[in-house]
Amino acid sequence: MELPGAASERGSWGTRLGFILAAVGSAVGLGNMWRFSYVAAEGGGAAFVLLYLLFVTLVGIPVMTSELIIGRMTQVSPIKAIRQLGGASWAPLGWLFVAAGFGLLSYYSVIAGWTMRFATDAMRGAIPQDTATYFNQVGTNLPAIVTHVIFMAITVFIVGRGVKKGLERTALILMPMLFLLLVGLAIWSATLSGGGPGYAYYLKPRLNELLDTAIITDAAGQAFFSLSLGMGAIMTYASYLKSKRNLGREAVTIAATDFGVAFVAGLVVFPIIFHFGLGEAIGLGGVLNTDNTVGTLFITIPPALQSIGSFGNVVIAAFFVMLFFAALTSAISLLEVVVASVIDNWHWPRAGAAVTFGILITLAGLPSALNLNFLTFADRLFGAFFLMLGGLLTAILVGYRALPEADRELAQGLQHPGLRRAWSTAIRYFVPPVLLVVLSFGIKPLWNAFRALIGG
Ligand code: PFF
Repeated sequence: MELPGAASERGSWGTRLGFILAAVGSAVGLGNMWRFSYVAAEGGGAAFVLLYLLFVTLVGIPVMTSELIIGRMTQVSPIKAIRQLGGASWAPLGWLFVAAGFGLLSYYSVIAGWTMRFATDAMRGAIPQDTATYFNQVGTNLPAIVTHVIFMAITVFIVGRGVKKGLERTALILMPMLFLLLVGLAIWSATLSGGGPGYAYYLKPRLNELLDTAIITDAAGQAFFSLSLGMGAIMTYASYLKSKRNLGREAVTIAATDFGVAFVAGLVVFPIIFHFGLGEAIGLGGVLNTDNTVGTLFITIPPALQSIGSFGNVVIAAFFVMLFFAALTSAISLLEVVVASVIDNWHWPRAGAAVTFGILITLAGLPSALNLNFLTFADRLFGAFFLMLGGLLTAILVGYRALPEADRELAQGLQHPGLRRAWSTAIRYFVPPVLLVVLSFGIKPLWNAFRALIGG
């Protein structure tokens, strides 16, 4: 029996738009631009994009619907929610979620820090021509630590303010600005000459690449990362939902907006990269003296835009401000998973939980700020492997342990029996085997990233 004041203390969304924008804000992040462009560039462009779209539709939407169901049904944070549904033996899944959120935010914030640095430097006209060297200077060590700490402080501040005043208000302000900036940039980059091969690389799949297991795993991992799935973020947001709207429709809205933003971001990035030669973008490992390409976006975008004259710095600043907004609304959801769990399980006050765990996550991010190989490894481990594992286990839990309850919850808002059957069939018979296969493909790249880490 719930106490009368308990729900309002826990917080809830003020409006449907607020919830949708916050969920879209979680989904749309560095994943859509930084990660999408570097993984798509590694994975052959259009083939990757096509596989990614398939995973978003066939795996992402059913898993997102499941997370929305669990959150709204239980009205508690993931650790408790999972235990309510699966009993004590499933409790580790809730902890896996929190560990993923903790680990993911630790390096995510380092990259978000780069966006702040590049945005402010562009405004001051202080980004030099040689961005590879510059990125090496500001992307690691003390400068990276400074921007990482600042970014975490902003995130902690917003999460500390709570669901309506922190999470919802930030999304309502930043998301429309982000959409405007993105559309403006896409229109501008369509006017670039020489972008044609960029569009072709991005939009014309070479079919033989569709069967490449590395590309398949990358596409699946990217779908989970970009949709914020597999670690209870969407679940946590849904636990603040009161209304009995159609959760299937909410899942499609969130996923479609997220894909739309990633796709348009690709329309911005690829013509620019190609306008200035793909070789440079793909060969970044050599430029950076590391085995990774995490800096692709940061190294290629500024020199390309600087070449158009002084207006270039305005466009660079707009680009990185947009990235910063996107990162912030996602980081908020990452920290919220951890903080909501601490509040629900240990009954800590929100502000105390946000500050304490904010500090711990900031410390955990230091290795990523000091070593890009560590960052890459953390991204493979937390940003792909943990999320897919979390998604697999969520599907098994919902599909095999709690299907009747889950279906009843979904039915509140989604009356169509055929659509509900499509969802339950996907979550039982399609999502688990696909994720098992993809996870097994994912072990090798994870191992390689680990070897690069200890070897370098
Ligand atoms: N979806 C975010 C992005 O694309 O950048 C990252 C993310 C946020 C992943 C929240 C997972 C999550 F729970």
